[in-house]
Amino acid sequence: MSTLEVSDLTVRFGGNLAVSKVSLSVAGGEIVGLIGPNGAGKTTVFNAVSGVITPTSGKVALAGRDISKLPTYKRARAGLGRTFQRLEVFSSLSVRGNVQVGLEIRKSWSRRGGCDRQYLADGADLSADSEVSLILDRLDLLGLADEIVGALPTGQARLVELGRALAARPSIILLDEPASGLDENETTRFGELLRSLSGAGLGILLVEHDVGLVMEVCDSLHVLDFGTVIASGDADEVRQNAAVVDAYLGAGT
Ligand SMILES: Nc1ncnc2c1ncn2[C@@H]1O[C@H](COP(=O)(O)OP(=O)(O)OP(=O)(O)O)[C@@H](O)[C@H]1O
Ligand SMILES: [Mg+2]
Repeated sequence: MSTLEVSDLTVRFGGNLAVSKVSLSVAGGEIVGLIGPNGAGKTTVFNAVSGVITPTSGKVALAGRDISKLPTYKRARAGLGRTFQRLEVFSSLSVRGNVQVGLEIRKSWSRRGGCDRQYLADGADLSADSEVSLILDRLDLLGLADEIVGALPTGQARLVELGRALAARPSIILLDEPASGLDENETTRFGELLRSLSGAGLGILLVEHDVGLVMEVCDSLHVLDFGTVIASGDADEVRQNAAVVDAYLGAGT
């Protein structure tokens, strides 16, 4: 299984040190949380890891291969998926259409018509239509398949974006606030979905302000504050860390 390894990642915007020497790794089958207050640098880490911005220094490797110098699309082909905090969907297309786009793009680069990352279907060789339906089913979106995404509530549109990202069959996926806009029941189901995807081998790096969800699903966590990792560990370790309580969680979490 693939592992994402981020080493000493630093990003400066002019005089603003947005990310400072951040190191973390995400293995296939693992859910790692990246949490912290607004402006801490979480999205900037995602942008640097996925190649949307060029970091000041640091290294990003996937499955042992240095991908630091690759453009975004080559990182995606190498197996790195992501969703965006500011939601990137084709709002005039249907739910099914959005996932189809992800699949068509993958097929355009994968000569075999697929990759070896089959966590969605236990190794089955699916037709494109069945694969799209399977993804929609996994995301509880089958009933909305023909709806235009622009007309959906944000929470559902975020799931569509996740579906499109999954259609590319990433080995590691970066999710930036995927549960914002979901109600309590939907969030619980979403947590179960994340666990089932990771159980099938997907590695997930999760940025999310819903602390309950993060603590529930993550195997380990890193807490960012002013661009620096101030604590790392499992949910209990992070919850009890005085610096984390001070910077982010507050008392009584
Ligand atoms: N393109 C940019 N140019 C200049 N500064 C930026 C840019 N993107 C982010 N920043 C700054 O970098 C810092 C980190 O921002 P970032 O968006 O990564 O935080 P975040 O942890 O994702 O916050 P939030 O929880 O609000 O999404 C902030 O000070 C922000 O203003
Ligand atoms: Mg952000």
